[in-house]
Amino acid sequence: MKNRPQSQVDTAKIDTPAFVIEEHILRHNLSILKEVKEKTGTKMLQALKTWATWELFPIVREYLDGAEVSSLNEATLGAEYYDEVHIYAPAYREKEFEEILEKCTTIIFNSFLQWKKFKPQVEEWNAQNPQKKRECGLRINPGDIEGGSHSGLWSPTSPGSRLGIRVSEFETALKEDPKALEGISGLHFHVFWDEALPQLKNAVAAVEQKFGKYLPQMKWVNWGGGQTITNDDYDREGLVELINAFQKKHGVTVHLEPGAAIVKDAGALVATVLDMVHRDDVPFEIAVLDMSFNAHMPDFLLSPDLDMPVARAAVVREEGVADQPNLYQLAGGTCVTGDHLSHYHSFERSLMPGDKIMLLDGIQYNLVQCTMFNGVQHPSIVLLKQNGEYEVLREFGYEDYKNRMG
Ligand SMILES: Cc1ncc(COP(=O)(O)O)c(C=O)c1O
Repeated sequence: MKNRPQSQVDTAKIDTPAFVIEEHILRHNLSILKEVKEKTGTKMLQALKTWATWELFPIVREYLDGAEVSSLNEATLGAEYYDEVHIYAPAYREKEFEEILEKCTTIIFNSFLQWKKFKPQVEEWNAQNPQKKRECGLRINPGDIEGGSHSGLWSPTSPGSRLGIRVSEFETALKEDPKALEGISGLHFHVFWDEALPQLKNAVAAVEQKFGKYLPQMKWVNWGGGQTITNDDYDREGLVELINAFQKKHGVTVHLEPGAAIVKDAGALVATVLDMVHRDDVPFEIAVLDMSFNAHMPDFLLSPDLDMPVARAAVVREEGVADQPNLYQLAGGTCVTGDHLSHYHSFERSLMPGDKIMLLDGIQYNLVQCTMFNGVQHPSIVLLKQNGEYEVLREFGYEDYKNRMG
């Protein structure tokens, strides 16, 4: 498989602010996921929480098997485009559960309490809809994983995390009710964010060690998302071997639910410099953009250790700011003092108002979390098609702002 292709966006053609999705990069990422699927027979689900530009789901559907969703709204959207919709949420609302049964083919519970509460409803649905029987699963939490994910905010296995059933709780539940797993077809774990294969191997080993005795009763085990499968340096042959060995050993099908790996580097946020601010007490200039990091990249701001790749610029961290040419802090247009990136960018040439800035890996977890705080202009959504044409999929205006306020 070739390396991920370069961006081909001509920013001069973009009305900013805009999320620009590049079809050729999206298809590159998807074809890698499809290859893994074909070599293993795993079920590959698109995690809608990461990115949900539904106009492009027909493209995703050419490669993957279905959607992984987290709420009734995501389930409704997923069911419009996919035959298979698997849902997981930390807890379900009673008044939504009937609709969840209509829309989701697989329902994963976060606790035995939730499973017991909704089991009679699932059984009733299955009895009444023999053609549309629903499968159920339980999310497990294998505890601390060697080399596992970044900070507590993003690590589902961190102490006190509400996500997934720990092995001691699992055993206690089965002691209290030896039939507690009746009706359960699979187990689910999701323990990472942006990790490579060695960490996944550790997670799989932890699951086998702690939950291994329950695996022969299962049809499937869902390994969640959080793997950088489509990155050039990811060990995909190793992943294929790991999945195949696991499936053979335990007689289960592995499910994967990638999100970030689908849109990695395939969606940029393009913005325009509106003003330059010079301050004598800092070694950089501030470029104020027609977007907002607070409103359009809230997820990114929560991880100050992450670098934002920007076209024609190098990332510079605090410790390296001295004597850097054309050094800028990229800042947003809201009233929040901290509405800026926490690191700096050294550009090929000096910036001036009117210049376009391309925040390269700008779409994952950002578009889905955008707000219209300060009434800022919501970025439009543009597709750069494989044939080089630009298509504006959606523009946002005053009505979108007003409709969310009352
Ligand atoms: C349960 C679950 N599955 C899948 C994903 C997708 O992860 P990623 O976008 O990192 O691949 C997430 C992300 O938080 C998740 O919580």
